[in-house]
Amino acid sequence: MTDRFYITTPIYYVNAEPHLGHLYATMLADTVCRFNQQRGRETYFLTGTDEHSQKIERAAQAKGIPVREFVDGLAGRFRDVFDHWKIGYDQFIRTTSDVHKAGAQELWRRCRDAGLIYKSVYAGWYCVQDNAFIDGPKEGPPPECPDSGGPAEWVEEESYFFRLSAFQEPLLAYYREHPEFIQPESRRNEIVSFVEGGLQDLSISRVTTTWGVQVPDDPAHVMYVWFDALSNYITALGFGTSPDDDRWRFWPGVHLIGKDILRFHTVYWPAFLMGAGLPVPQKVMVHGLWMSGGRKMSKRLGNGVDIGLLDRHFTHDAVRYYCLAEMGFGQDGDFTYGALVDRANADLANGIGNLASRTLTMLAKYFDGVLPQAGPDSAVRTTVEQATATAVSEFENFEFRRGIEAIRSAMAAVDRYISDTKPWAIAKDAGRRDELAVVLVTAFEALRAFVVVLAPALPEGSAAIWRSMNLDGSPSDVDPGTLQVGVVPAGHRIGEIAPVFPRLNKEQIMDDITKETAVEGAPTPEAGTPPAATAPAPEPAKTEPDYITIDDFAKVELRVGQVLAADRIEGADKLLKLSVDLGEAEPRQVLAGIAMHYAPETLIGRKIVVCSNLKPRKMRGLESQGMILAASVGEDGVPVLATFTEDVPNGVRLK
Ligand code: MSP
Repeated sequence: MTDRFYITTPIYYVNAEPHLGHLYATMLADTVCRFNQQRGRETYFLTGTDEHSQKIERAAQAKGIPVREFVDGLAGRFRDVFDHWKIGYDQFIRTTSDVHKAGAQELWRRCRDAGLIYKSVYAGWYCVQDNAFIDGPKEGPPPECPDSGGPAEWVEEESYFFRLSAFQEPLLAYYREHPEFIQPESRRNEIVSFVEGGLQDLSISRVTTTWGVQVPDDPAHVMYVWFDALSNYITALGFGTSPDDDRWRFWPGVHLIGKDILRFHTVYWPAFLMGAGLPVPQKVMVHGLWMSGGRKMSKRLGNGVDIGLLDRHFTHDAVRYYCLAEMGFGQDGDFTYGALVDRANADLANGIGNLASRTLTMLAKYFDGVLPQAGPDSAVRTTVEQATATAVSEFENFEFRRGIEAIRSAMAAVDRYISDTKPWAIAKDAGRRDELAVVLVTAFEALRAFVVVLAPALPEGSAAIWRSMNLDGSPSDVDPGTLQVGVVPAGHRIGEIAPVFPRLNKEQIMDDITKETAVEGAPTPEAGTPPAATAPAPEPAKTEPDYITIDDFAKVELRVGQVLAADRIEGADKLLKLSVDLGEAEPRQVLAGIAMHYAPETLIGRKIVVCSNLKPRKMRGLESQGMILAASVGEDGVPVLATFTEDVPNGVRLK
């Protein structure tokens, strides 16, 4: 295992204000970096802004602002946001800086001197929004841009080309020999088949704009923005400008990117590096995208969740935790304010916050705030240690959701242990002090382990609980990989108990957000509602309705159910496994495709409607013995569960 870790984020285009998507990628990298620091590695964390290209030049023109001033302003906004959200980057690089430009020129020279760059003419489609070249004949309508969906423009100009075609075999060999290079595997497979399909030489300069890095020895050309931008990962370490820079020891690094920029990072970038005789990146880790209103959140669509609004209503920890816990690595996620509130309440207020407050309060009350002499319960200790080990190995692979799941279930086990042992009852019996000591030491030690392992995901809250526990240093100083349960000595005095994760008033917050978004014209809390322009056309009215008879309807048995338990299913992101009381001898197991929209804990106790005579069927190897009813809202069919406002007994039939 290497003891050095270099993590980068994409550098962000400065054509508009940052939104949650940019914050997410940077927070994810920050979490990864904090985790690696905790593991004792020497880390370096790079983020920054991508400031050239026609797209940005045009955005500045549209605002009537000189482009230099325009990019300075927006780069400052990105940096301010990251600082405000306490992102612990080591460097914020700007591609308009002299050091970067000189480094990018050196990379160009190396490729040129290796005989890999030649001059010709580019005649083809170019998408200014995506900074991408697109295949297609000149005749006919402009093709659609791959990411933004806008129309491409026909371009015919003198251009330098990079001999990408020479890299098909070297790239395929590299992917073969380094299966971990692109993760998750589905992305790797996508790129392998793309490269197997053949590579064409790549146009890497433009003469139609001057807003870019000048091509060495040919001032009429500026570099294609992706050649310029990708080089940031090494120019930031002094490549091309300071040969003795000791930050070079961090190369090669790990790139965290969104799936929208996969090809640039896994085909072009390693080819440029191979061409220049430099080591290629260690890994490219590809995260999924946040959707809002059923579409990728983007600056162009204006459906990006506003960071200022998040800041006004939620703690930074709550937003970070929600993003990590909700989105499986590499998968897309639908952002909703409601789910964010639910997560914060279920996992933070009711979860770790509650465990901290009940444990510390009982220690204060029954042992005057001093840890008694006792060893932790061995079964609980094993559960906690196993969960910690699982979380560590998941976090190593950026699988924060899975790691957090492991901790959540261990936390539930500790909660059950406390409820079952009933320390408040034991405390009434002076003869049972030893038993009471075991319960509270167990809870304290479990809490300590959870706080350590969750520290990268909850930097502020974990530090606050740690202070209340009055432990030395900070939870980030403890390596979760070698964490032991049962090490705090008897006699340790806890600190002042401060509430850490207050419960959020969902109704109030949703109400406030609705009012604010109505004023600002931003996406509403009912994320999942498509933007007006993309709303599906109403179904044409049928002249002859397809009536069913009452007998047809009577065949469908709908009953009142109550959710007793709800769990996620390993490997099935959309499904929840529910145990539902239908007033029968045994509860039924029902699988429901609602996991992206309902946190399992929020369903417990809830009355629902179940179709109870649907033939049982197996999904993911599990039998579903019924179907729950939900409204299917919007283009994406966001589920909203059917329920009752009055009290109804379980099992009653709906007619
Ligand atoms: N400038 C290029 C990247 C150059 S890297 C050498 C670029 N910039 S961008 O501003 O469009 O940012 C893209 C990255 O921001 C994505 O790859 C992703 O990491 C993050 N996100 C932007 N929108 C996002 C979502 N809706 N959801 C999650 N992440 C998002 O491409």
